[in-house]
Amino acid sequence: MPKVADPRLADKGRLAYEWARKHMPILVKSIERLERDRPLHGIRAGFCLHVTKETSVLVMGARMLGADVGLCAANPLTTQDDVAAFLASQGIDVYAWRNESMDEYYSCIRSVLSSRPATLTDDGSDMHVLYHREFKGVYTPIGGTEETTTGVTRLRALARDGILAYPIIAVNDAYTKHLFDNRYGTGQSTIDGILRATSMLLAGKTMVVAGYGWVGKGIASRARGMGAKVVVTEVDPIRALEAHMDGFAVMPMDEACRYADVIVTATGQINVVRGEHIRAMKDGVVLANAGHFDVEIDVRWLERNARGKRLVRENLEEYILDGRSIYLIARGRIANLVAAEGHPPEVMALSFANQLLSIVYLVRNHASMERKVYGVPGEIDRQVALNALDAMGIRIDEPTEEQVAYAGRWM
Ligand SMILES: NC(=O)c1ccc[n+]([C@@H]2O[C@H](COP(=O)([O-])OP(=O)(O)OC[C@H]3O[C@@H](n4cnc5c(N)ncnc54)[C@H](O)[C@@H]3O)[C@@H](O)[C@H]2O)c1
Repeated sequence: MPKVADPRLADKGRLAYEWARKHMPILVKSIERLERDRPLHGIRAGFCLHVTKETSVLVMGARMLGADVGLCAANPLTTQDDVAAFLASQGIDVYAWRNESMDEYYSCIRSVLSSRPATLTDDGSDMHVLYHREFKGVYTPIGGTEETTTGVTRLRALARDGILAYPIIAVNDAYTKHLFDNRYGTGQSTIDGILRATSMLLAGKTMVVAGYGWVGKGIASRARGMGAKVVVTEVDPIRALEAHMDGFAVMPMDEACRYADVIVTATGQINVVRGEHIRAMKDGVVLANAGHFDVEIDVRWLERNARGKRLVRENLEEYILDGRSIYLIARGRIANLVAAEGHPPEVMALSFANQLLSIVYLVRNHASMERKVYGVPGEIDRQVALNALDAMGIRIDEPTEEQVAYAGRWM
């Protein structure tokens, strides 16, 4: 039986859905273009995504294209219960509520997999991995898609080990996904999460951003815009150089942690902020994570070494060390989705247009695809960009025949 926290929240969830839909014309256009052909007719589509208002527009869109939809959360803490209730009221099989235990979280994913979806759409790959652990001998999906950097890394590891059971389209790799969602979406919503959790002034504060990938670049630039002094830490020399030339201070975490007022991790890596760093921090430092999993800050070290802990505001815990307090946002989980609402709809429209068109592509082309990780087909990426420009009323030039010919010459 589908399960949500409170079905009575459906009307509130409908308003959230309608608000998001109004701000996602790029996705709505893709849905409307395909609606007549109903390319997902007869397809059971499984989704493991953050259950937000933006996700509701995607899964309702999949239904409009003919799919029968099962939905669970991609994180135990990020479900918007009103949105889950609205989707359940529309006949979507939803298994998601905010504050699931880890057992409940996996049992919700299992519920979606038990209905044997033909396509699996994931954010972080917990559903893809659970399929390979428990359902591989039971049935084979025609294919899957993956939303985020960390999920794509895991799927590439499955493919490398020869275990991947179906083709994957790495939606994260589309230019119209990571250039905008990871950078502008996470940039804005992580700052939003920090502000909602702490209500602090960023102007004049020192914010350390660990990782200068797409997510880190977005956070660093938005924090600078709010007047923070931004320090970047990196392990990749090219990205460190890029951060330096973008005007940020670059230094190792050992050093950066001494100056920090706020530290945000955005690396996709484990234990980037460790005990030795926490010991060296000033009193009152705020720690937040924007990476997919809650492994970037060593929360277990804090749990073991703090003399006490208390919840001082929603999504903000104070760890009391000898004479100092360290504040942790959202238990070290993805701060922009737990302490705020995730990316704004305008940016998720790009990501989810890529998702929807990639699912349709899989349904149409899976017979000729291998069990490997594919990028998003170039024509989809381009179409999403054209739709986005169109929705924003922006026109661009076309190359002249002379320019096309010039670009093809070798002398
Ligand atoms: N919060 C969100 O809504 C959201 C959105 C998109 C992606 N993500 C997640 O954010 C994480 C980063 O994604 P991305 O697209 O920026 O990835 P990316 O690969 O572009 O960037 C990660 C960067 O971190 C650096 N790094 C790795 N280990 C490090 C360490 N120990 N110290 C400092 N830097 C280190 C890498 O060199 C790289 O430059 C992933 O887990 C991704 O899934 C979160």
